Amino acid sequence: MSVQRSSSPNSVWDSIPGIAFGGDYNPEQWPVDVRLEDIELMKEAGVNLLSVGIFSWALLEPKEGEYDFAWLDEVLDNLAAAGIKVALATPTAAPPAWLVRKHPEILPVTADGTVLERGSRRHYSPSSAVYRKYAAGITRKLAERYKDHPALALWHVDNELGCHASEFYGEEDAEAFRRWLERHYGSIEGLNEAWGTAFWSQHYSSFEEIIPPRAAPTTLNPTQRLDFQRFSSWALMDYYRTLLAVIREVTPHVPATTNLMVSSGTRSMDYFDWSENLDVVANDHYLVTADPEREIELAFSADLTRGVAGNKPWILMEHSTSAVNWQPRNQPKRPGEMLRNSLAHVARGADAVMFFQWRQSAAGAEKFHSAMVPHGGRETRVWREVVGLGEALGKLSAVKGSIVESRVAIVFDYEAWWASELDSHPSEDVKYLNVLREFHRSLFLRGVTVDFVHPTADLSSYGLVLVCTLYCVTDEAAANIAGAAERGATVLISYFSGIVDERDHIRLGGYPGAFRELLGIRTEEFRPLFEGEETVLSDGTRGRIWSEHVHLDGAEALASFTTYPLEGVPAITRRSAGTGSAWYLATLPDREGIERLVDKLLTEAGVAACAEAAAGVELSRRVQADGRSFLFAINHSREDAAVKADGEDLLGGGRFGGVVPAGAVAVIAED
Ligand code: GAL
Repeated sequence: MSVQRSSSPNSVWDSIPGIAFGGDYNPEQWPVDVRLEDIELMKEAGVNLLSVGIFSWALLEPKEGEYDFAWLDEVLDNLAAAGIKVALATPTAAPPAWLVRKHPEILPVTADGTVLERGSRRHYSPSSAVYRKYAAGITRKLAERYKDHPALALWHVDNELGCHASEFYGEEDAEAFRRWLERHYGSIEGLNEAWGTAFWSQHYSSFEEIIPPRAAPTTLNPTQRLDFQRFSSWALMDYYRTLLAVIREVTPHVPATTNLMVSSGTRSMDYFDWSENLDVVANDHYLVTADPEREIELAFSADLTRGVAGNKPWILMEHSTSAVNWQPRNQPKRPGEMLRNSLAHVARGADAVMFFQWRQSAAGAEKFHSAMVPHGGRETRVWREVVGLGEALGKLSAVKGSIVESRVAIVFDYEAWWASELDSHPSEDVKYLNVLREFHRSLFLRGVTVDFVHPTADLSSYGLVLVCTLYCVTDEAAANIAGAAERGATVLISYFSGIVDERDHIRLGGYPGAFRELLGIRTEEFRPLFEGEETVLSDGTRGRIWSEHVHLDGAEALASFTTYPLEGVPAITRRSAGTGSAWYLATLPDREGIERLVDKLLTEAGVAACAEAAAGVELSRRVQADGRSFLFAINHSREDAAVKADGEDLLGGGRFGGVVPAGAVAVIAED
């Protein structure tokens, strides 16, 4: 359900010339002379968009009902005079001390009953009626004061909803959970049936008996957990909508968003579900510095963000110029890495590149976190690179608004992520992303762009559709995936997919129930592998984590297990379906096995790389509605790399010469 509005908000893109560039701005941490210097430095770097006021509540309303907007007036006026637009934050991610002292019941409660105190941030439960009232109150004050301010281009609602804690177990949360269940199931009988409460004497006589899945002696009811996960994602979004309703009422012309945390590590919020409430999708992304393949994780996150955004341009709301402060060891980015990271996001659909934060803090918990203006000021590599990035983005205006081109879809489902990783399953090593990330990595390294799509999305434009560990699936989604194969796509489904329905009930009659017919196979028993155990397939592939006893029922075996006790049992199968095909993969292949399989799938689907390029070059193509196309070639290696493309070199100027220097990026406006 989306919040009603009296008129459509403007587009944030209309108010900013070219690609947006900037970051979180926390001027309240600095005296006036520094704030004035900030404006000069912002102009020097080419900044045109800032998120302001994210953690300012205690200064904006130092006592209940007593407001001080003078400093924010000055900041916004100066930014407007400099032509810089603002994503104005509701300062609601950190309630002030007076509010918590008056209403300690707003504090979050964990599954074991611990109350999380103030002293850091995000110390509220989104289901607290009192908190919602106060948060809506300060939002209204801000909206009324700044509704016509020339700097205001976007609302930045709260901050990273679900960060630090995303599930809340207090009494008020329990009450909201009950009401959510009541709306969802209609009757307690419906819930009993869905939750399978005949098991372990869990039958309920009324919704009032229900509690969240708090700490308990052993395995909790899996459907209760799955529903609580659904509810928890909904509760955060419902809180967002409370603030959005105020924003829509007072400033119907101003678009609104909140910064998501789409990445391989964030699973608690169903961002596909959330996206309908966002006028533009915004994402925060941080590299894990110790990951030697961090550019691939970045691409994964950016591709998934684009999927959540429905393939429309999105905002990279935060990333870091260099080191963060919250990993065990925080190394700075390598020379040129920030530019590569930033343009990789643009290559994958971002039309805004922003950072946490503008000026590195002198005090507080994040003083060792990098920023656009480092502690060392202008005489630093980071500052020079920030200015260089501003210049580069300035040359990419023609790319703005274009769409990323892709003929490969990976089906992505947060519910399957949650459900597949519940406990008391055949193997705790089965992780939702295991197979999925291997395929994405292989395609990344080949220069083939991947779209992430919801299981019910339109799949008609894809030649290849990959369905990985889609453990729970609705009838509608299963039919959608089968339809893609029938209509000509090559569809691959990996193990532990289609096992249960949306209630987490087994689809009986042999696995994988939802896809048995499409695949032409039937599995009678799973045989997960022990840690370190491998199985070998007849084509040389080495499998880890999983094997199973597959029978053919219309499909042909492309490779079989060769190891006891599954010798001769099919491991990779294929069935022609309509004008397409349906493949099954019954283990997690090693890297060579994945390469072999991806070769075959791409050949059958007729999908090729964006361009020919040397190893180490990341490729992506964005296309404008009028047909102009832009090839992004990002050289992650430390050697110059050849790329076959003809056109204008937007960053370097002149014709593209066929080589991207070591560590550099080329954006080619193709002939
Ligand atoms: C984000 C957060 C920012 C800042 C940043 C540091 O999660 O939104 O406020 O804390 O991390 O990396």
